[in-house]
Amino acid sequence: MSSGRRRLVILISGRGSNMRALVQACRQENWPADVCAVISSRPDAPGLQWASEAGIPTASVYHRDFASREAFDAALAREIDRHAPDYVILAGFMRVLTAGFVNRYAERLVNIHPSLLPAFPGLHTHAQALATGVQAHGCTVHFVTPLLDHGPIVAQGCVPVLPGDTPDSLAGRVLDMEHRVFPAAVRWLAEGRVRLAPDHRVDVQGNPQRLFVWSAPDSPNHNE
Ligand code: GRF
Repeated sequence: MSSGRRRLVILISGRGSNMRALVQACRQENWPADVCAVISSRPDAPGLQWASEAGIPTASVYHRDFASREAFDAALAREIDRHAPDYVILAGFMRVLTAGFVNRYAERLVNIHPSLLPAFPGLHTHAQALATGVQAHGCTVHFVTPLLDHGPIVAQGCVPVLPGDTPDSLAGRVLDMEHRVFPAAVRWLAEGRVRLAPDHRVDVQGNPQRLFVWSAPDSPNHNE
């Protein structure tokens, strides 16, 4: 890992609102880090245009152009490695990655997942939360391991499931929380404060609060 500014590469597949939150926080809060590239698995991802207009090098590696996951992951790794990143950040990247790819970036690959892991790995997490009747839902920032949506947890954000919620309304509440939790967690990485303990749990120097809790929009604590 380089000793100076951390180099971040962000992978997206679509809208890119988490990527935007990361870029904006990195710039506004003067993290000791640079977003060196934004790479999409889809050439039409709206987030690519935003990143390009923000002056960030962009590329797309379209999964449909490759005959196998291995070939796609190899091309993606080549594109990533051109930027020599310290961390590769999955921000709404919707492809399952091979174990070979994950191991190549071991302890440097971080994802945000829209549930309180280990509940609801995989897709349709908000519908799953509503179907099971949980009262608390949220998001998790975690290191990526070959097992899908597992891996050491860096931070979590908790939101309530409210009466009358639909998958969309719940997704919106979780997404607001994602935009708080992800920049906080990636900032700790950028500052070199995150360690993986031998028991595979995460330790963050300075012991910041790693659980973010939702407050109602009319609460005095909102957006604190
Ligand atoms: C987010 O909810 C993320 O957790 C999930 O997909 C969504 C991507 O949104 N994996 P965006 O592209 O960051 O706006």
